[in-house]
Amino acid sequence: MFQVAIVGSGGMGSAHAGCYAAIDNATVVGAMDIRLEAAQSLAARHNAKAYTDFNRMLDELRPDIVDICVPTPWHAEYVCLAAEAELKGIVCEKPMARTIADCDRMISACEQTNTPLFIAHVLRFFPEFIRAKELVDAGAVGQPVTVRTRRGGPFPHAWSDWYANYEWSGSLVLDMIIHDFDWLRWTFGEVERVMAKSVYGKNISELDYALVTLRFKSGVMAHVEGTWADPSGFKVSFEIAGDKGILDYNFNQPTSPPFQIAQKVTKAQGVGVAVPESPLAISPYQAELSHFLSCLEQGVTPSVTPADAKAAVVISLAALSSMEAERPVRISELVS
Ligand SMILES: NC(=O)c1ccc[n+]([C@@H]2O[C@H](COP(=O)([O-])OP(=O)(O)OC[C@H]3O[C@@H](n4cnc5c(N)ncnc54)[C@H](O)[C@@H]3O)[C@@H](O)[C@H]2O)c1
Repeated sequence: MFQVAIVGSGGMGSAHAGCYAAIDNATVVGAMDIRLEAAQSLAARHNAKAYTDFNRMLDELRPDIVDICVPTPWHAEYVCLAAEAELKGIVCEKPMARTIADCDRMISACEQTNTPLFIAHVLRFFPEFIRAKELVDAGAVGQPVTVRTRRGGPFPHAWSDWYANYEWSGSLVLDMIIHDFDWLRWTFGEVERVMAKSVYGKNISELDYALVTLRFKSGVMAHVEGTWADPSGFKVSFEIAGDKGILDYNFNQPTSPPFQIAQKVTKAQGVGVAVPESPLAISPYQAELSHFLSCLEQGVTPSVTPADAKAAVVISLAALSSMEAERPVRISELVS
């Protein structure tokens, strides 16, 4: 049985805890948060202990797994602390970190203590995205040439409105369409160059919209759109065009009206982060955590490596640089 301690008891901390509760060989033993009431509320739902002090939680509970679901800028601090605690493994939500230096710090801390680190890039566990990659790999569209992805939902209002703070969240480019960057890189290989534009740039607005184009080393071009101005639910679509056919996928939350004009959602109306609904018995979020636990049991490397997670951060940061500089940015300008 894996004993799990959750760090950050907000939206994703609660979601991860719910997933562990449904996994046979895992149990949530602790919940930590800077807000005692948040930790207590999550702990109460799982018959676990609540903490506001990370080290105390680790000393008292000696968990096997620490699962980090705090806002992005604090991922590195907790991963580095957890790496020293002789754990069986660390889970950390995406994006891996707000900066490349933090990604490097996390990777080297975990390497030094030989602690497996799993960054939760959940799109790799959505059946439709797995199937699309399988079809591309099997040559169903022939040689891929262009790809279009779109992801949208309502603006996320969470602790301290941290998603609205560019220095913290990195806007929807680092926070949301990083999902697509990771899946695209998994499916089409390394990215060479990025060009991006968004409506609001660093002055994040609830009506934000970004378009990022990626040129892959293979020559494939991707057109990646994201918005926090889809108030009517979650929408995801993609299209892959190759020389033998086009693969097309479209998901609209069932509650989405066919036509709606985006308007600002007030903080009072807003709820945390919207995620796609899943009709599956085992949600992709549960599947990714089960995957990591079974990799630990079998001593094999998880399907998403820390290097993959860093690469997705690098693509996102290249897009942010491109938005600021208003020019294409090569990945090689950020990492050698
Ligand atoms: N994979 C996905 O689909 C997905 C969806 C949403 C969010 N996320 C990611 O999950 C992470 C958390 O996002 P969220 O929506 O749950 O945020 P949230 O604001 O709902 O929850 C964050 C919690 O962390 C606590 N906190 C803040 N600073 C802390 C600190 N220094 N130490 C301990 N606790 C602290 C807050 O009190 C809050 O309860 C982010 O990195 C976000 O990008 C991933």
